[in-house]
Amino acid sequence: MRICLIGFMGSGKTTIGRSLSERLNLRWIDLDQYIEKKSNQSISDIFEKYGEAYFRRLEQGALNELLIQDELVISTGGGIITTPDNRVVLKNEISIYLEYPFETLYERIAGDSNRPLATSYESLKERFTSRLDLYEQSSQVRINCQEKSVNEITQEILTCLETIS
Ligand code: S3P
Repeated sequence: MRICLIGFMGSGKTTIGRSLSERLNLRWIDLDQYIEKKSNQSISDIFEKYGEAYFRRLEQGALNELLIQDELVISTGGGIITTPDNRVVLKNEISIYLEYPFETLYERIAGDSNRPLATSYESLKERFTSRLDLYEQSSQVRINCQEKSVNEITQEILTCLETIS
């Protein structure tokens, strides 16, 4: 089994990915961490030195590399769905969209210096709105996470997996 978690910045893809992988006894890989290790640079440095388009190419390459492997949970970065080919690829995976209202996400990511795109309220909201459809298009399952604990979200995903696999 291979599971991809998608969703906006701050939606808990990393935390839920780790928790889910423990429950399913699968390996867990965070795509951003994988890119950082591979390129030996932080995501912020990659954005600063080479720009977003370059990062998206690295991200696409890393995703495709990991999808050759099985028995793993992949926590993706929030912008993975902005690359059209990734949407097609993710739609064919067990991709789970962790959904939250914007205000909750904003509270979690505001001022995070490790997230180069976490800038002003307005620009983040615009980015969020423009991506909503793309998360839907790229996922098989959508989990409404608002007001739920990590355990509750993990359990809900496990229940969904039983029905789709
Ligand atoms: C991005 C989200 C980040 C990271 C990069 C770009 C985005 O990942 O990939 O900063 O475009 O939304 P997280 O969603 O884990 O913060």
